[in-house]
Amino acid sequence: MNRDFIAKHWYADIYEQFENQTDDVEFLLNLLRQRKNGAPQKILEAACGGGRICLPLAKAGHIVTGFDADAHMLLRCYRKMKGMSNIVCYSADALTSDWGSDFDVVVLAGNLLLNIETDTDYAKAQQIFIRKAASALKPGGHLFLDFDLLFDPARFFSSLRESSYFSGTDDMGTSGRTVSCGSVYDPVTRICAGTNHWELTTNNGESFIIPKVWHKHIPTQAQVYSWLDEAGLSIERSFKNYLDEPIPEPIDESTFRATVWAKKNT
Ligand SMILES: C[S@@+](CC[C@H](N)C(=O)[O-])C[C@H]1O[C@@H](n2cnc3c(N)ncnc32)[C@H](O)[C@@H]1O
Repeated sequence: MNRDFIAKHWYADIYEQFENQTDDVEFLLNLLRQRKNGAPQKILEAACGGGRICLPLAKAGHIVTGFDADAHMLLRCYRKMKGMSNIVCYSADALTSDWGSDFDVVVLAGNLLLNIETDTDYAKAQQIFIRKAASALKPGGHLFLDFDLLFDPARFFSSLRESSYFSGTDDMGTSGRTVSCGSVYDPVTRICAGTNHWELTTNNGESFIIPKVWHKHIPTQAQVYSWLDEAGLSIERSFKNYLDEPIPEPIDESTFRATVWAKKNT
């Protein structure tokens, strides 16, 4: 096994150990019950990862398709969906693949808008995700978009402190931790960039470092809303911080999470 395989396998395993929250999934399931009368929906989840969201959707009786570019994440999803006839998954890069068509609901969740893997213009990639989601929907279908919308991104992203967000041992006995060395946020371009590395030790005691550099674009509310509009999607409901309360325009200081339920124009 090469180091790249070991590292990606470790990360997918540890990601699942830490990122196992269900509040957003419950929120989506409730919304589907309320807005779609509990009827089974044909749902696409783009960038479904290990299936944290798409699996419960299928378990609730929906007809689900998920895809992701990360084979290690996706493998976890395949294992969990074994024996279920109402869910399929496949491997694809969201930016270059065709997402299909005629879905009742497309899910872009898990803060995906700020976690896109791309070498190209990040804001453009964010807009492409919204465009592709819209074209995968049937007229009258809905986009569920759930992402971090921060009042003051600099406070959140400008930090030169060392920190570790994941640490632990995977099912192959590889142990390690992620080490972030900080990031900076440019308020003009709204690009945030940082460096980190993973410190890993395999089960036979071999230690190595995987260096990482990353960047992301932090969109404004107005930007996201204009992308939705341009894609032919009208916001029917928005929710601030998973509360039964619309996202204010402009957002206020207490806003940290935006959930949007938008309808594809007929
Ligand atoms: C933060 S995780 C969210 C996973 C899952 N939706 C969840 O909420 O647990 C982001 C996922 O997006 C996937 N991803 C990022 N960019 C992608 C792209 N261009 N094409 C396909 N998948 C992508 C990653 O592989 C990763 O599994």
